[in-house]
Amino acid sequence: MERMALLMLVSDIVIGNAPLSEQMQEIARHVHEAFGVTACVLRELHHDGLHLLASSGFHMESLPAVLDPQKGIAGRMIADKLPLIITNVPADSLTAKLHASGGPIHFQSFAGAPMIVHGEVIGLLGVYSAEQQHQFTGEDLEHLQLVANHVGVSVLNARLFREVTNAYERTLEGWSAALEYRDPVTKGHTMRVTELTVRLAREMNWDESNIIHLRRGAMLHDIGKMAIPDEILMKPGPLTREETLIMRQHPEIAREMLEPIEFLRPALDIPLNHHERWNGSGYPRGLRGEMIPPAARLFSVVDVWDAMCSDRPYRKALAPSDARDYLKENAGILFDESAVASFLKVEAAG
Ligand SMILES: [Fe+2]
Repeated sequence: MERMALLMLVSDIVIGNAPLSEQMQEIARHVHEAFGVTACVLRELHHDGLHLLASSGFHMESLPAVLDPQKGIAGRMIADKLPLIITNVPADSLTAKLHASGGPIHFQSFAGAPMIVHGEVIGLLGVYSAEQQHQFTGEDLEHLQLVANHVGVSVLNARLFREVTNAYERTLEGWSAALEYRDPVTKGHTMRVTELTVRLAREMNWDESNIIHLRRGAMLHDIGKMAIPDEILMKPGPLTREETLIMRQHPEIAREMLEPIEFLRPALDIPLNHHERWNGSGYPRGLRGEMIPPAARLFSVVDVWDAMCSDRPYRKALAPSDARDYLKENAGILFDESAVASFLKVEAAG
């Protein structure tokens, strides 16, 4: 019953939505308790070693953050893809170092299991006892293997999620770099405004879960310019009336480009609305005041600031004090007053 209870607990933790580090810490604690051992450790196998995920019962300073996956008991379990018991840690050649690794605790016996998912070793789960009489049984080992495999599913999910998110982020960076190749005047503008907008949102106490979308939106704010013809996008002088109308289509083009991509839909506020202005004088929809999504209200302050402080082929950059004055004069007219006030604080902080 106790073993079933532990498996059920582990399953519940694994299907929950806590971050991986918290899940693993909780699992280490439960395994430590359920097996009645002195300590428990969980490690994940990466290409560069076995990384510590969580532990319970150890003196942390005695636990290496990364282990060589080819050496010692870890190496044996990974190579054999099998769990193992060491009944006499001080005398075993594989565990010469383990004897002392508990710091002031001297381990006597060990049981460990590789986390195996789809036939691959994802990580390791190990339990340690410092009691002379403690004997791990074959049944303990089977149980440990089951728990390890359950935990492995969660570790693998987190890894896949990391990889997919990473691929998304690199793709977005690629898109925004592609736009900067076409529009070299604004080189460096995207990264600067993205970084400043994130700082502004933090200053305004935005939740980090919303900042993720804000950041993506800022990176893609002018992505619609991809569809603007070269002779307009790269024209060094002022645009004609017709050219201006075409240029002003870029927010709507961004909407058409990004809306079908589900993970970018929450990031659309900035690409679609960054040229809207507080008094309704902006485009494409002429939204006013709080009708303008908050992300776009923050971003437009940063975007205008960065444009004023940068050289253009047809004009020199403004002095920062003049750019500051412009924002102050237009707070509550073109820009959200609270966004301007917070921006000036962020800007003053450097
Ligand atoms: Fe724009």
